[in-house]
Amino acid sequence: MKRIVSGIKPTGSLTLGNYLGAIKQFVKLQQKMEDCEFFLFVADMHAITVRQNPAELRKRILDIAAMYIACGLDKEKTVLYLQSEIPQNVELGYILQSNVYMGELERMTQFKDKIAKQETSITSSLFTYPALMAADIILYDADYVPVGDDQKQHLELTRTIANRFNNYYGDFFTVPEPLIPEVGARIMDLQDPEKKMSKSDTANPKGFITLFDDSATIRRKINSAMTDSIGVIKFDPENQKGLANLLTIFASITDRDVLDIVNEYKDSNYKVFKEDLGNAIVEVLEPIQEKHKNLIKSQELQDILNKGRDIASDYAFKKMRKCKRKVGLGRK
Ligand code: AMP
Ligand code: TRP
Repeated sequence: MKRIVSGIKPTGSLTLGNYLGAIKQFVKLQQKMEDCEFFLFVADMHAITVRQNPAELRKRILDIAAMYIACGLDKEKTVLYLQSEIPQNVELGYILQSNVYMGELERMTQFKDKIAKQETSITSSLFTYPALMAADIILYDADYVPVGDDQKQHLELTRTIANRFNNYYGDFFTVPEPLIPEVGARIMDLQDPEKKMSKSDTANPKGFITLFDDSATIRRKINSAMTDSIGVIKFDPENQKGLANLLTIFASITDRDVLDIVNEYKDSNYKVFKEDLGNAIVEVLEPIQEKHKNLIKSQELQDILNKGRDIASDYAFKKMRKCKRKVGLGRK
């Protein structure tokens, strides 16, 4: 059986970008790949690479866990857990830090972007983050890792690290393949379509839609999304970046073809198009929010997380015991 592994950091509120680039893809894969096992986690250790308010962090961790299920993941088929509840993640992360070079980490664009902004002091864990991310993946011998486009580089480094380990110590870790969606892999900011929609880096809340926004807010944000003065509905990411992003969102949320949508609206105008898009998003998010509300305080969610922790832990414990033996650590 093949295993799929992926995670989301509990920094800021989950956005429509996370939904279309990652969560929706997990749900689709789960429906499509029946013979696959899904390990999904909340990457809470990754969140503290930048300062977090403890009470808010704890709330967001559960928010994400509940959101995975509310978005349609099958709770019977998903091993859902918190990264921080499996100590072997960090243990392997350290071993992998010892198998990745400074130069490789320095080339990571996510890290370079954060440095360029220099919002706060840069922690050493932000720098070594890709080693922990690699551990999150190869500890469980993931075959596939569904992520948005922004994580492609981290996945390539994960493959490099896994191969390096295997070459030196003998075949041990599965080398994972990234799975990046064809549409929706990079949803852009609604006010600044040059940068990706992000829950942690965006100062202007009008630039992103969170999965918790109420219907009126969603419609308002779409109506005020930046477009252009060309005024014609066509898919032209070069000259009509804002509109191309809205078309991508429309296609991705309704599972339609971009060109099919262009065709439907080619004689229409931005106002009507935006109204319909707002409605399409609300239609998808409202039932998700309702499910999330019921789950968040439930014992059911706790039970799912306990079960997930136990299954992941069992695998991690055995793999790590073997890994230390391979590396020559400990007594036997
Ligand atoms: P993060 O929020 O950085 O923890 O990302 C969690 C997942 O959501 C990863 O698979 C990202 O690639 C994906 N993701 C984040 N932002 C976007 C975006 N704007 N468009 C598409 N996918 C995204
Ligand atoms: N680094 C990812 C992000 O910022 C989140 C993440 C952490 C992840 N560990 C992972 C994604 C393992 C996939 C697999 O989006």
